[in-house]
Amino acid sequence: MPQTLQLTNPMDMHLHLREGELLESVLPFTTQAFSAAVVMPNLKTPITTTTQALAYKKQILSLCSSPFEPLMSIFLTPELDKQELILAKEAGIKILKLYPKGATTGSEGGVKDILCEKTLQVFAIAEELGFILSIHGESNGFCMEREYEFLPVFAYIAQHFPHLRIIIEHMSDRRSLEMIEKYENLYATLTLHHITMNLDDVCGGMLNPHHFCKPMLKTRKDQQALLQAALKAHPKVSFGSDSAPHLASAKLSSKGAAGIFSAPILLPALTEVFESHNTLDSLQAFVSDRAITNYGLEHFPTKSITLERVQNSVPAYIDTPLGHIIPLRAQSNLSWRIKKN
Ligand code: NCD
Ligand code: ZN
Repeated sequence: MPQTLQLTNPMDMHLHLREGELLESVLPFTTQAFSAAVVMPNLKTPITTTTQALAYKKQILSLCSSPFEPLMSIFLTPELDKQELILAKEAGIKILKLYPKGATTGSEGGVKDILCEKTLQVFAIAEELGFILSIHGESNGFCMEREYEFLPVFAYIAQHFPHLRIIIEHMSDRRSLEMIEKYENLYATLTLHHITMNLDDVCGGMLNPHHFCKPMLKTRKDQQALLQAALKAHPKVSFGSDSAPHLASAKLSSKGAAGIFSAPILLPALTEVFESHNTLDSLQAFVSDRAITNYGLEHFPTKSITLERVQNSVPAYIDTPLGHIIPLRAQSNLSWRIKKN
């Protein structure tokens, strides 16, 4: 049994860092474990311009105590024009994030009619300039079928913009796997929670609001199929945690917020999962190599993360100046932890 495990340049390709005091409180969990992360733009005022993205990046970097690369993304609106996209490209921004209007936290400013002429024009410019289009792919139908119902939209964009790289964000439905195999320019990110949990973990016993997220956790079959994709480090799937911190007060209010805060446990929990399936050999590919290839990331300074086999327990809550946040697997045991340098 290995007692330590080395990972090079872990990447989290879907991360919510929030802003202000919340950002300050949650950021260290990611910077101690990851080399880089794709930072989601769904702030209270969404990041729709390069100027905003660069200011947000600066704020993040000013709080980083170890080397860390925030990979910024821009919140896609039909009004995004070529000039702005050229500016973004020049600033090294590669990712556009599309939220259907109202689909999830912070998406009120999202796109209402995704295949309307104006949005298609944004896709065409994005394709021409070499952007990656990351999509929160959910319809507004029945909550368990939303990702499946959205697949024709992915198919349409993939077919009409064959040189545009498109990402099915936080893939949650096993039928999405068939899509990334069918369309060459379609990829996906996958979370820890969608490979380790299913709807029973939300409401199979007592209601657990801390497991409530968008897209919803689905059936055991979905979980199993997605888990297998992770364990074999499917070439078109990159790890993206979708760690999405909300204050416990917001999760537990009558309008329970969607989002799972997984940043404090990601690498140890993934190591446990891969070890328990005898696939530790593919963990490096799943948490790093796939992202580097699929997003065309090059020239990363090497950051080496060592995990050590030491029993430890996940805290009951993380304190912030604004209140508590309950992390995924709060108060449970982990058999691995990140070794401090
Ligand atoms: C995310 C958030 O809280 O920002 N929530 C979630 O349930 N995953 C937004 C998102 O990625 O859908
Ligand atoms: Zn998200």
